[in-house]
Amino acid sequence: MIKPTHVHNTLLPLTEFTERRATFFSLMPENSIAIFSAAKEVTRSNDTEYAFCQDKNFYYLTGYNEPDAILVLINSDDEGVNSKQSVLFNLEKDPLQEIWHGRRVGQALAVEQYGVDKCFSLEEIDQYLPDYMAGKNQLLFCQGRSETFDAQVYSWLSLVKAQSRLGIKAPMQLVDCRTIIEEMRLIKSTGELEIMRRVNVISGAAHTRAMQQSAIGKFEYQLEAEILHEFSSNGARHPAYGTIVAGGDNGNILHYTNNDDVLKNNELILIDAGGELSGYAADITRTFPVNGTFTKEQREIYQLVLDAQNLAIEAIKPQATFAELNVLVNNFLTTGLHRMGILLGDLTVLLEEKACKKYFIHGLGHWLGLDVHDVGDYQSNDQREQCRPFEQGMVMTIEPGIYIPLDDFSVAEKWRGIAVRIEDNIVVTEQGHENLTVNAPKSLLEIEKIMRAK
Ligand code: GLY
Ligand code: MN
Ligand code: MN
Repeated sequence: MIKPTHVHNTLLPLTEFTERRATFFSLMPENSIAIFSAAKEVTRSNDTEYAFCQDKNFYYLTGYNEPDAILVLINSDDEGVNSKQSVLFNLEKDPLQEIWHGRRVGQALAVEQYGVDKCFSLEEIDQYLPDYMAGKNQLLFCQGRSETFDAQVYSWLSLVKAQSRLGIKAPMQLVDCRTIIEEMRLIKSTGELEIMRRVNVISGAAHTRAMQQSAIGKFEYQLEAEILHEFSSNGARHPAYGTIVAGGDNGNILHYTNNDDVLKNNELILIDAGGELSGYAADITRTFPVNGTFTKEQREIYQLVLDAQNLAIEAIKPQATFAELNVLVNNFLTTGLHRMGILLGDLTVLLEEKACKKYFIHGLGHWLGLDVHDVGDYQSNDQREQCRPFEQGMVMTIEPGIYIPLDDFSVAEKWRGIAVRIEDNIVVTEQGHENLTVNAPKSLLEIEKIMRAK
Protein backbone atom coordinates (compact mmCIF):
# COMPACT_ATOMS: atom_id res chain seq x y z
CA MET A 1 0.00 0.00 0.00
CA ILE A 2 1.25 3.50 -0.80
CA LYS A 3 1.44 5.63 2.32
CA PRO A 4 -0.41 8.92 1.81
CA THR A 5 1.73 12.01 1.97
CA HIS A 6 -1.02 14.61 2.02
CA VAL A 7 -4.03 14.86 4.22
CA HIS A 8 -7.23 14.55 2.23
CA ASN A 9 -8.69 17.90 1.17
CA THR A 10 -5.68 19.97 2.23
CA LEU A 11 -2.61 21.18 0.40
CA LEU A 12 -0.48 20.50 3.45
CA PRO A 13 1.59 17.34 3.81
CA LEU A 14 0.67 14.84 6.50
CA THR A 15 3.98 15.60 8.23
CA GLU A 16 2.79 19.17 8.89
CA PHE A 17 0.05 17.79 11.13
CA THR A 18 2.16 15.12 12.82
CA GLU A 19 4.83 17.73 13.53
CA ARG A 20 2.24 20.09 15.02
CA ARG A 21 1.08 17.34 17.36
CA ALA A 22 4.70 16.64 18.29
CA THR A 23 5.22 20.33 19.09
CA PHE A 24 2.02 20.45 21.11
CA PHE A 25 3.15 17.35 23.04
CA SER A 26 6.48 19.03 23.78
CA LEU A 27 4.62 22.01 25.27
CA MET A 28 2.18 19.97 27.36
CA PRO A 29 2.78 19.84 31.11
CA GLU A 30 4.19 16.59 32.48
CA ASN A 31 1.67 13.81 32.92
CA SER A 32 -1.26 15.57 31.28
CA ILE A 33 -4.02 14.96 28.78
CA ALA A 34 -5.50 17.33 26.18
CA ILE A 35 -8.90 16.98 24.54
CA PHE A 36 -10.04 18.78 21.37
CA SER A 37 -13.45 18.69 19.79
CA ALA A 38 -14.35 18.88 16.10
CA ALA A 39 -17.12 21.27 15.07
CA LYS A 40 -20.72 20.20 14.71
CA GLU A 41 -22.96 20.70 11.71
CA VAL A 42 -25.07 23.84 12.14
CA THR A 43 -28.70 23.87 11.01
CA ARG A 44 -29.61 26.72 8.67
CA SER A 45 -33.27 25.81 8.50
CA ASN A 46 -35.38 22.68 8.51
CA ASP A 47 -33.24 19.74 7.28
CA THR A 48 -30.59 21.98 5.75
CA GLU A 49 -27.20 22.88 7.15
CA TYR A 50 -24.68 25.67 6.66
CA ALA A 51 -21.54 24.65 4.80
CA PHE A 52 -19.51 22.71 7.35
CA CYS A 53 -16.58 24.58 8.87
CA GLN A 54 -14.19 22.54 10.98
CA ASP A 55 -13.09 23.81 14.38
CA LYS A 56 -9.81 25.51 13.53
CA ASN A 57 -7.81 24.21 16.50
CA PHE A 58 -9.00 20.69 15.75
CA TYR A 59 -8.14 21.14 12.10
CA TYR A 60 -4.74 22.59 12.97
CA LEU A 61 -3.79 19.43 14.85
CA THR A 62 -5.41 16.84 12.58
CA GLY A 63 -6.38 18.13 9.13
CA TYR A 64 -9.51 16.06 9.73
CA ASN A 65 -12.59 17.56 8.17
CA GLU A 66 -15.58 15.62 9.51
CA PRO A 67 -17.92 16.78 12.27
CA ASP A 68 -18.42 14.85 15.52
CA ALA A 69 -14.91 13.78 16.39
CA ILE A 70 -12.64 14.15 19.41
CA LEU A 71 -8.84 14.24 19.46
CA VAL A 72 -7.10 13.15 22.65
CA LEU A 73 -3.40 13.77 23.23
CA ILE A 74 -2.00 11.80 26.14
CA ASN A 75 1.32 12.72 27.68
CA SER A 76 1.88 9.96 30.26
CA ASP A 77 4.56 9.63 32.86
CA ASP A 78 4.08 6.14 34.09
CA GLU A 79 6.65 5.09 36.69
CA GLY A 80 9.13 7.53 35.19
CA VAL A 81 8.57 6.40 31.60
CA ASN A 82 7.19 9.04 29.27
CA SER A 83 4.91 8.08 26.41
CA LYS A 84 2.92 10.20 24.02
CA GLN A 85 -0.16 8.95 22.28
CA SER A 86 -2.66 10.59 19.93
CA VAL A 87 -6.12 9.05 19.79
CA LEU A 88 -8.96 10.06 17.50
CA PHE A 89 -12.58 9.22 18.20
CA ASN A 90 -14.78 9.63 15.11
CA LEU A 91 -18.00 8.49 13.47
CA GLU A 92 -18.24 4.87 12.43
CA LYS A 93 -18.71 3.97 8.83
CA ASP A 94 -22.43 3.55 8.15
CA PRO A 95 -23.61 2.77 4.60
CA LEU A 96 -27.10 4.17 5.11
CA GLN A 97 -25.96 7.42 6.73
CA GLU A 98 -23.24 7.80 4.12
CA ILE A 99 -25.77 7.47 1.28
CA TRP A 100 -27.68 10.41 2.76
CA HIS A 101 -24.96 12.59 4.23
CA GLY A 102 -21.66 11.72 2.59
CA ARG A 103 -18.66 9.49 3.04
CA ARG A 104 -16.98 8.95 6.38
CA VAL A 105 -13.35 8.11 6.97
CA GLY A 106 -14.03 5.57 9.71
CA GLN A 107 -11.45 4.22 12.13
CA ALA A 108 -9.03 2.10 10.11
CA LEU A 109 -8.39 4.70 7.42
CA ALA A 110 -8.06 7.50 9.98
CA VAL A 111 -4.94 5.94 11.47
CA GLU A 112 -3.45 5.54 8.03
CA GLN A 113 -4.48 8.89 6.54
CA TYR A 114 -4.13 11.20 9.52
CA GLY A 115 -1.20 9.56 11.26
CA VAL A 116 -2.83 9.26 14.68
CA ASP A 117 -1.68 6.40 16.90
CA LYS A 118 -5.15 4.98 17.48
CA CYS A 119 -8.68 5.60 16.36
CA PHE A 120 -11.91 4.40 17.96
CA SER A 121 -15.55 4.96 17.25
CA LEU A 122 -17.04 8.00 18.99
CA GLU A 123 -19.51 5.62 20.59
CA GLU A 124 -16.63 4.03 22.50
CA ILE A 125 -15.36 7.25 24.01
CA ASP A 126 -17.02 6.85 27.44
CA GLN A 127 -15.30 3.50 27.69
CA TYR A 128 -11.77 4.72 26.87
CA LEU A 129 -11.47 8.36 27.84
CA PRO A 130 -11.89 8.04 31.64
CA ASP A 131 -9.04 5.49 31.62
CA TYR A 132 -6.83 7.88 29.63
CA MET A 133 -7.62 10.66 32.11
CA ALA A 134 -7.00 8.57 35.21
CA GLY A 135 -3.80 9.44 37.05
CA LYS A 136 -3.01 12.56 34.98
CA ASN A 137 -2.19 15.76 36.85
CA GLN A 138 -3.66 18.21 34.37
CA LEU A 139 -6.50 18.19 31.89
CA LEU A 140 -6.18 20.63 28.98
CA PHE A 141 -9.08 21.70 26.80
CA CYS A 142 -10.44 24.83 25.14
CA GLN A 143 -12.76 25.89 27.92
CA GLY A 144 -15.89 27.88 27.23
CA ARG A 145 -15.85 27.29 23.50
CA SER A 146 -19.00 25.22 23.56
CA GLU A 147 -21.28 24.52 26.51
CA THR A 148 -21.98 21.04 25.21
CA PHE A 149 -18.31 20.17 25.00
CA ASP A 150 -17.57 21.62 28.45
CA ALA A 151 -20.41 19.48 29.86
CA GLN A 152 -19.02 16.42 28.09
CA VAL A 153 -15.56 16.97 29.56
CA TYR A 154 -17.01 17.36 33.07
CA SER A 155 -19.01 14.17 32.61
CA TRP A 156 -15.85 12.22 31.67
CA LEU A 157 -14.14 13.77 34.65
CA SER A 158 -17.01 12.62 36.89
CA LEU A 159 -16.61 9.09 35.58
CA VAL A 160 -12.97 9.13 36.73
CA LYS A 161 -13.80 10.73 40.07
CA ALA A 162 -16.41 8.05 40.70
CA GLN A 163 -13.55 5.57 40.88
CA SER A 164 -11.64 7.41 43.62
CA ARG A 165 -12.31 4.70 46.21
CA LEU A 166 -10.41 2.31 43.97
CA GLY A 167 -7.43 4.62 44.33
CA ILE A 168 -7.88 6.13 40.85
CA LYS A 169 -7.02 9.82 40.74
CA ALA A 170 -8.67 12.33 38.41
CA PRO A 171 -6.76 15.36 37.05
CA MET A 172 -6.93 18.08 39.69
CA GLN A 173 -6.06 20.98 37.41
CA LEU A 174 -8.10 22.06 34.42
CA VAL A 175 -6.03 24.16 32.04
CA ASP A 176 -7.17 26.20 29.06
CA CYS A 177 -4.99 24.88 26.26
CA ARG A 178 -5.56 27.96 24.10
CA THR A 179 -2.36 29.57 25.32
CA ILE A 180 -0.38 26.73 23.78
CA ILE A 181 -2.24 26.24 20.54
CA GLU A 182 -2.88 29.91 19.80
CA GLU A 183 0.80 30.74 20.16
CA MET A 184 1.60 27.88 17.78
CA ARG A 185 -0.97 29.09 15.26
CA LEU A 186 0.32 32.66 15.38
CA ILE A 187 3.66 31.77 13.77
CA LYS A 188 3.13 30.39 10.29
CA SER A 189 5.25 27.66 8.73
CA THR A 190 6.64 27.71 5.20
CA GLY A 191 3.80 25.43 4.11
CA GLU A 192 1.14 27.65 5.63
CA LEU A 193 2.65 30.75 4.02
CA GLU A 194 2.62 29.04 0.64
CA ILE A 195 -1.13 28.46 0.96
CA MET A 196 -1.71 32.00 2.21
CA ARG A 197 0.18 33.37 -0.80
CA ARG A 198 -1.98 31.27 -3.08
CA VAL A 199 -5.31 32.24 -1.54
CA ASN A 200 -4.25 35.87 -1.69
CA VAL A 201 -3.57 35.58 -5.42
CA ILE A 202 -6.96 33.90 -5.96
CA SER A 203 -8.67 36.60 -3.90
CA GLY A 204 -6.77 39.38 -5.67
CA ALA A 205 -8.01 38.00 -9.01
CA ALA A 206 -11.55 38.05 -7.60
CA HIS A 207 -11.23 41.74 -6.72
CA THR A 208 -9.90 42.47 -10.21
CA ARG A 209 -12.84 40.62 -11.73
CA ALA A 210 -15.29 42.62 -9.62
CA MET A 211 -13.70 45.88 -10.81
CA GLN A 212 -14.00 44.73 -14.42
CA GLN A 213 -17.63 43.72 -13.97
CA SER A 214 -18.73 46.87 -12.18
CA ALA A 215 -21.53 48.80 -13.90
CA ILE A 216 -24.12 51.41 -12.98
CA GLY A 217 -27.45 49.70 -12.28
CA LYS A 218 -26.04 46.32 -11.28
CA PHE A 219 -26.88 44.94 -7.86
CA GLU A 220 -24.17 44.56 -5.26
CA TYR A 221 -24.84 40.82 -5.09
CA GLN A 222 -24.01 40.52 -8.79
CA LEU A 223 -20.46 41.60 -7.99
CA GLU A 224 -20.52 39.19 -5.03
CA ALA A 225 -21.36 36.45 -7.56
CA GLU A 226 -18.31 37.42 -9.64
CA ILE A 227 -16.12 37.23 -6.53
CA LEU A 228 -17.44 33.81 -5.47
CA HIS A 229 -17.08 32.54 -9.03
CA GLU A 230 -13.40 33.47 -9.06
CA PHE A 231 -12.79 31.90 -5.62
CA SER A 232 -14.41 28.57 -6.48
CA SER A 233 -13.02 28.33 -9.99
CA ASN A 234 -9.54 28.55 -8.54
CA GLY A 235 -9.89 26.09 -5.70
CA ALA A 236 -11.01 28.35 -2.85
CA ARG A 237 -14.35 26.60 -2.45
CA HIS A 238 -15.70 28.92 0.26
CA PRO A 239 -15.25 32.56 1.19
CA ALA A 240 -13.37 32.94 4.47
CA TYR A 241 -16.11 35.28 5.77
CA GLY A 242 -19.27 36.97 4.58
CA THR A 243 -18.39 38.92 1.44
CA ILE A 244 -19.00 42.65 1.74
CA VAL A 245 -20.01 44.48 -1.44
CA ALA A 246 -21.04 47.94 -0.33
CA GLY A 247 -21.99 50.67 -2.78
CA GLY A 248 -21.89 54.34 -1.73
CA ASP A 249 -23.04 55.04 1.82
CA ASN A 250 -23.38 51.29 2.51
CA GLY A 251 -19.58 51.31 2.82
CA ASN A 252 -20.07 53.20 6.06
CA ILE A 253 -21.64 50.07 7.59
CA LEU A 254 -18.56 48.10 8.59
CA HIS A 255 -20.05 44.61 8.47
CA TYR A 256 -22.48 45.25 5.61
CA THR A 257 -23.35 41.90 4.00
CA ASN A 258 -26.86 42.53 2.69
CA ASN A 259 -25.33 43.26 -0.72
CA ASP A 260 -28.76 43.91 -2.21
CA ASP A 261 -28.56 47.54 -3.25
CA VAL A 262 -28.17 49.00 -6.73
CA LEU A 263 -24.79 50.45 -7.78
CA LYS A 264 -25.09 54.12 -8.64
CA ASN A 265 -23.13 56.52 -10.81
CA ASN A 266 -20.43 58.57 -9.06
CA GLU A 267 -20.45 56.30 -6.00
CA LEU A 268 -17.67 54.15 -4.67
CA ILE A 269 -17.89 50.41 -4.07
CA LEU A 270 -16.11 48.95 -1.08
CA ILE A 271 -15.48 45.21 -1.42
CA ASP A 272 -14.06 43.24 1.50
CA ALA A 273 -13.65 39.67 0.31
CA GLY A 274 -11.24 36.80 0.79
CA GLY A 275 -11.31 33.14 -0.12
CA GLU A 276 -10.48 30.20 2.11
CA LEU A 277 -7.96 27.64 0.88
CA SER A 278 -7.13 24.50 2.88
CA GLY A 279 -8.68 26.33 5.82
CA TYR A 280 -6.55 29.51 5.46
CA ALA A 281 -8.14 32.91 4.95
CA ALA A 282 -7.32 35.88 2.78
CA ASP A 283 -8.81 39.20 3.90
CA ILE A 284 -8.59 41.87 1.22
CA THR A 285 -10.46 45.14 0.78
CA ARG A 286 -10.50 47.31 -2.30
CA THR A 287 -12.52 50.45 -2.96
CA PHE A 288 -13.20 51.67 -6.48
CA PRO A 289 -15.64 53.88 -8.39
CA VAL A 290 -18.75 52.24 -9.86
CA ASN A 291 -18.18 54.04 -13.19
CA GLY A 292 -14.41 53.51 -13.28
CA THR A 293 -13.33 57.10 -12.55
CA PHE A 294 -12.80 58.57 -9.07
CA THR A 295 -14.28 62.00 -8.39
CA LYS A 296 -11.95 64.70 -7.03
CA GLU A 297 -13.06 64.16 -3.42
CA GLN A 298 -13.02 60.37 -3.67
CA ARG A 299 -9.53 60.60 -5.13
CA GLU A 300 -8.27 62.75 -2.24
CA ILE A 301 -9.67 60.48 0.47
CA TYR A 302 -8.49 57.38 -1.36
CA GLN A 303 -4.92 58.64 -1.73
CA LEU A 304 -4.82 59.60 1.94
CA VAL A 305 -5.89 56.10 3.03
CA LEU A 306 -3.49 54.47 0.57
CA ASP A 307 -0.54 56.54 1.77
CA ALA A 308 -1.43 55.72 5.38
CA GLN A 309 -1.55 52.03 4.52
CA ASN A 310 1.81 52.12 2.78
CA LEU A 311 3.32 53.98 5.72
CA ALA A 312 2.16 51.22 8.08
CA ILE A 313 3.23 48.39 5.77
CA GLU A 314 6.70 49.86 5.30
CA ALA A 315 7.18 49.94 9.08
CA ILE A 316 6.52 46.22 9.51
CA LYS A 317 9.57 44.24 10.58
CA PRO A 318 10.55 42.04 13.51
CA GLN A 319 10.25 43.94 16.81
CA ALA A 320 7.88 46.59 15.41
CA THR A 321 4.46 46.68 17.10
CA PHE A 322 0.85 47.45 16.21
CA ALA A 323 1.06 50.25 18.78
CA GLU A 324 3.88 51.94 16.80
CA LEU A 325 2.02 51.48 13.52
CA ASN A 326 -1.08 53.01 15.08
CA VAL A 327 0.83 56.14 16.06
CA LEU A 328 2.16 56.54 12.50
CA VAL A 329 -1.24 56.04 10.90
CA ASN A 330 -3.26 58.10 13.38
CA ASN A 331 -0.87 61.05 13.01
CA PHE A 332 -0.84 60.77 9.25
CA LEU A 333 -4.63 60.53 8.87
CA THR A 334 -5.30 63.28 11.39
CA THR A 335 -2.89 65.63 9.60
CA GLY A 336 -4.42 64.79 6.22
CA LEU A 337 -8.01 65.24 7.35
CA HIS A 338 -7.08 68.56 8.95
CA ARG A 339 -5.41 69.72 5.73
CA MET A 340 -8.54 68.78 3.77
CA GLY A 341 -10.76 70.76 6.15
CA ILE A 342 -12.59 67.69 7.39
CA LEU A 343 -11.14 67.96 10.90
CA LEU A 344 -11.26 71.49 12.20
CA GLY A 345 -9.24 73.08 15.00
CA ASP A 346 -5.70 73.18 16.27
CA LEU A 347 -3.61 70.41 14.71
CA THR A 348 -1.53 69.79 17.85
CA VAL A 349 -4.68 69.25 19.86
CA LEU A 350 -6.22 67.09 17.14
CA LEU A 351 -3.09 64.92 17.04
CA GLU A 352 -3.13 64.52 20.81
CA GLU A 353 -6.78 63.51 20.68
CA LYS A 354 -6.18 61.06 17.79
CA ALA A 355 -8.98 62.99 16.12
CA CYS A 356 -8.89 60.82 12.97
CA LYS A 357 -10.65 58.11 14.99
CA LYS A 358 -13.89 59.97 14.30
CA TYR A 359 -13.53 58.75 10.70
CA PHE A 360 -11.16 55.78 11.11
CA ILE A 361 -13.47 53.84 13.35
CA HIS A 362 -11.87 50.41 13.61
CA GLY A 363 -8.50 48.86 14.35
CA LEU A 364 -5.58 49.10 11.95
CA GLY A 365 -5.29 45.35 11.52
CA HIS A 366 -5.39 41.92 13.06
CA TRP A 367 -3.69 38.54 12.90
CA LEU A 368 -4.67 36.37 9.94
CA GLY A 369 -4.49 32.62 9.40
CA LEU A 370 -6.93 29.76 9.79
CA ASP A 371 -9.37 32.31 11.17
CA VAL A 372 -9.85 35.64 9.45
CA HIS A 373 -9.55 37.30 12.85
CA ASP A 374 -6.88 34.84 13.84
CA VAL A 375 -5.91 33.76 17.32
CA GLY A 376 -2.89 35.02 19.24
CA ASP A 377 -2.27 37.60 21.89
CA TYR A 378 -1.85 41.25 20.89
CA GLN A 379 -0.21 42.29 24.15
CA SER A 380 3.26 41.55 25.42
CA ASN A 381 3.96 40.84 29.06
CA ASP A 382 3.64 44.41 30.26
CA GLN A 383 0.10 44.54 28.91
CA ARG A 384 0.36 47.84 27.05
CA GLU A 385 -2.06 48.21 24.19
CA GLN A 386 -1.14 46.09 21.15
CA CYS A 387 2.55 46.34 21.92
CA ARG A 388 3.60 42.76 21.27
CA PRO A 389 6.75 42.83 19.11
CA PHE A 390 6.27 41.30 15.67
CA GLU A 391 8.13 38.08 14.92
CA GLN A 392 9.06 36.36 11.70
CA GLY A 393 6.14 34.22 10.47
CA MET A 394 3.33 36.33 11.93
CA VAL A 395 0.70 37.33 9.37
CA MET A 396 -1.49 40.38 9.79
CA THR A 397 -3.84 42.62 7.87
CA ILE A 398 -3.22 46.33 7.46
CA GLU A 399 -6.53 48.00 6.75
CA PRO A 400 -6.88 51.71 7.38
CA GLY A 401 -10.14 53.33 6.32
CA ILE A 402 -11.98 56.64 6.30
CA TYR A 403 -15.75 56.57 6.67
CA ILE A 404 -17.85 59.71 6.21
CA PRO A 405 -21.56 58.89 6.49
CA LEU A 406 -24.12 60.72 4.35
CA ASP A 407 -25.66 62.22 7.47
CA ASP A 408 -22.42 63.69 8.86
CA PHE A 409 -23.42 67.35 8.71
CA SER A 410 -20.19 68.44 10.40
CA VAL A 411 -18.35 68.22 7.05
CA ALA A 412 -18.94 69.87 3.68
CA GLU A 413 -21.52 68.01 1.59
CA LYS A 414 -18.96 67.03 -1.05
CA TRP A 415 -17.29 64.59 1.37
CA ARG A 416 -20.44 62.86 2.58
CA GLY A 417 -21.16 59.26 1.66
CA ILE A 418 -17.50 58.45 0.98
CA ALA A 419 -16.20 55.25 2.56
CA VAL A 420 -12.73 53.96 1.72
CA ARG A 421 -10.91 50.98 3.18
CA ILE A 422 -7.78 49.38 1.70
CA GLU A 423 -6.68 46.08 3.19
CA ASP A 424 -3.63 43.93 2.44
CA ASN A 425 -2.19 40.83 4.11
CA ILE A 426 1.39 41.06 5.31
CA VAL A 427 3.81 38.48 6.65
CA VAL A 428 6.72 39.45 8.90
CA THR A 429 9.98 38.18 7.41
CA GLU A 430 13.48 37.90 8.89
CA GLN A 431 14.45 41.37 7.65
CA GLY A 432 11.13 43.11 7.19
CA HIS A 433 7.92 42.04 5.55
CA GLU A 434 6.34 40.50 2.47
CA ASN A 435 3.03 41.74 1.11
CA LEU A 436 0.95 38.69 0.17
CA THR A 437 -1.61 40.86 -1.60
CA VAL A 438 0.24 41.23 -4.87
CA ASN A 439 -2.33 41.27 -7.65
CA ALA A 440 -5.32 43.27 -6.43
CA PRO A 441 -5.11 46.67 -8.16
CA LYS A 442 -4.52 49.36 -5.57
CA SER A 443 -3.22 52.67 -6.90
CA LEU A 444 -5.66 55.18 -8.40
CA LEU A 445 -3.95 54.71 -11.75
CA GLU A 446 -4.04 50.90 -11.68
CA ILE A 447 -7.70 50.80 -10.71
CA GLU A 448 -8.82 53.28 -13.35
CA LYS A 449 -6.71 51.50 -15.96
CA ILE A 450 -8.12 48.03 -15.23
CA MET A 451 -11.66 49.42 -15.20
CA ARG A 452 -11.16 51.19 -18.52
CA ALA A 453 -9.80 47.99 -20.08
CA LYS A 454 -12.93 45.93 -19.32
N1 GLY B 1 -13.13 41.16 6.76
C1 GLY B 1 -13.09 41.42 8.15
C2 GLY B 1 -12.03 42.34 8.50
O1 GLY B 1 -11.50 43.02 7.64
O2 GLY B 1 -11.59 42.40 9.61
MN1 MN C 1 -9.48 42.45 8.21
MN1 MN D 1 -11.53 42.56 5.62
